[in-house]
Amino acid sequence: MNLDLKTRIWPAGEAAVAEAGRCLAGGGLVAFPTETVYGLGADATNPAAIARLYQAKGRPAFNPLIAHVGDLAAAMRIGRFDAQATALARAFWPGPLTLVVPKSGDCAVADLATAGLDTIAIRVPAHPAALAILRAFGGPVVAPSANLSGHVSPTTAAHVQGDLAGRIDLIIDGGPVAVGVESTIVGCFEEPMLLRPGGLPREDIERVLGRALVAPPDDPDADLGQPLAPGMLASHYAPRTRVRLNAEAILPGEALLAFGPAILPGVDAAAAVMNLSARSNVDEAAANLFGYLRTLDLTGARAIAVMPIPHHGLGEAINDRLRRAAVGRD
Ligand code: TXA
Ligand code: MG
Repeated sequence: MNLDLKTRIWPAGEAAVAEAGRCLAGGGLVAFPTETVYGLGADATNPAAIARLYQAKGRPAFNPLIAHVGDLAAAMRIGRFDAQATALARAFWPGPLTLVVPKSGDCAVADLATAGLDTIAIRVPAHPAALAILRAFGGPVVAPSANLSGHVSPTTAAHVQGDLAGRIDLIIDGGPVAVGVESTIVGCFEEPMLLRPGGLPREDIERVLGRALVAPPDDPDADLGQPLAPGMLASHYAPRTRVRLNAEAILPGEALLAFGPAILPGVDAAAAVMNLSARSNVDEAAANLFGYLRTLDLTGARAIAVMPIPHHGLGEAINDRLRRAAVGRD
């Protein structure tokens, strides 16, 4: 593969949207903002484009992709929606929710994008540039987060550029994203299952369903009739620096990722300090999370000490990403 592409960066706007649509139609790779994180888009029906996408990210091809569409009608052309899935789509699309449903009989999305599964992950993003690009292109667009596989997801165009310049065709710069963590993924199985906590709080989903979301079984090979979110590999959202969770004091040489107004012992000697939300707001913390991790990762600190984050609302997704960032690094 040509890893020496001239990657163009265009500010979001009419011209950029039209160019993105043309680029996708020609089999190109386009990074664009969504409300959660930046995505790396390819034509979901074009296996060659999808193969390039996997290569550009360095992503194992067994890890399936989310198909992004403009509305529920387009989603229903590629997936089968029962009453429960339809209710969730009506309540939360466009928005930070991905639904895993059975593929439709005439699903045009390439098998390579769904890693050969008979289910498909679909979402309608709530970002004007993303929706405009989907409209301009006119078909489903697969889009994983626009980072190198294993890196922290990008929340600005500069993050995308840092990881993927030279490997993709076009970056649409729509400024920093609003939500900051990836979409919540719900498996619309007999028992609706929380496959990945994310930008839509579990509580909101359970209110619409009128029941609790079940957890995926611990055994990743458990026979559910379908694999779970295979991308939820242990160490996934990882900065290079070691991450230490639930810090109550700062050790010499550590950087601090703070939450709330408390001042920890040892903070004066910290290599760097960033506060996810001084006013203890989990939404603000989610929006800051990946950018701050990237920044602290570059300080040369011996570890990133993270203060405890409450588990309600987007806190569940924040704690999930932090736990993954810390895996295998203690
Ligand atoms: O917010 C988001 O969801 C972002 C933006 C760009 O939309 N996208 C994103 O994509 O986070 P990605 O590729 O980083 O994560 C997709 C997740 C993976 O964990 C993958 O395993 C899971 O979705 N997935 C995809 N298809 C699936 C399926 N049929 N069944 C279960 N999990 C699936
Ligand atoms: Mg990702």
